[in-house]
Amino acid sequence: MTIRLDGRVAIVTGAGGGLGRAHALLLARRGAKVVVNDPGGARDGSGSGDAASRVVEEIEAAGGEAIADRASVTDSAAVERMVAAAVERWGRVDILVNNAGVLRDKTFAKMTLEDFRFVLDVHLMGAVHCTKAVWEPMREQRWGRVVFTSSSTGLWGNFGQSNYGTAKMALVGLMQTLGLEGEKYGIRVNCLAPSAATRMTADVLPAEELALLAPENVSNGLLHLVSEAAPNRAILCAGAGSFERAYVTITEGAFIGGGEAAPERVAGSFDRISERTGDRVLDQGMQQPAYEVSRAKDALLPA
Ligand SMILES: NC(=O)c1ccc[n+]([C@@H]2O[C@H](COP(=O)([O-])OP(=O)(O)OC[C@H]3O[C@@H](n4cnc5c(N)ncnc54)[C@H](O)[C@@H]3O)[C@@H](O)[C@H]2O)c1
Repeated sequence: MTIRLDGRVAIVTGAGGGLGRAHALLLARRGAKVVVNDPGGARDGSGSGDAASRVVEEIEAAGGEAIADRASVTDSAAVERMVAAAVERWGRVDILVNNAGVLRDKTFAKMTLEDFRFVLDVHLMGAVHCTKAVWEPMREQRWGRVVFTSSSTGLWGNFGQSNYGTAKMALVGLMQTLGLEGEKYGIRVNCLAPSAATRMTADVLPAEELALLAPENVSNGLLHLVSEAAPNRAILCAGAGSFERAYVTITEGAFIGGGEAAPERVAGSFDRISERTGDRVLDQGMQQPAYEVSRAKDALLPA
């Protein structure tokens, strides 16, 4: 069945180029009215430009409806004005794609606290500002789709990207809880971990790999995450036409108990604690203490 978004209103942050532009164009092609947010600027977040208006022109030229917005996602008041403008124009906001991002790569030894904070501000607090601004309207209308753009760097690390990786994994944590809190209001929250040829990756991947990594391939996965049939709390990895899911799992582990020699038993059992056969994805955090307590009861209390 063709996925359509007719009547839906979407906000895509950082949509002046790269992945955000590809997302915005596809959402508009599938019938959504789109706020193309982007203050412009360079890869490190310096400067500004009018990339958002150019993407709006592309959408309009293809027969779609869009408005440009140049708010920085770091500015919560400007973000609230962006959401208010969308509601004033189209009456609602259904879809939020948190995509805006910057890079300030350096090894942790050389990174300034300012560069660490700035990257967290854009990726993490930027997504928090935008999501906070749409959360109440989405709850009231009992329908919403929120996507956070995570990254393989957050999930598995990457040399020289401690600030970026911290922000990207924090977004997974945000998704896990908002997915639980939004569920009964019809709000589904997911993460996308893309691989794409954009200015962010232009100098880190070889040309023949970049040729296969069109951003449009990633947007095809994004469409499912904002559709009627969207999953909730998925981490969808996407690149070069392939799609995978990443999970946070827990191993079966081992009951070690307490006492003076317990640290040595932890060390001696570390292979068994690490064994991945039978590992699981928990539905929510409280399942970890529940599992541990039930195991301790089994081991310590008389049957
Ligand atoms: N390209 C990849 O392979 C890849 C991999 C993992 C994650 N990502 C993530 O995908 C997203 C898009 O990145 P991209 O690769 O398209 O790079 P990009 O640099 O082309 O896109 C990022 C966009 O965000 C905008 N932006 C920057 N600061 C902003 C702010 N304060 N407010 C609003 N917009 C702002 C930029 O102007 C830019 O247009 C980012 O979150 C990035 O971290 C990309």
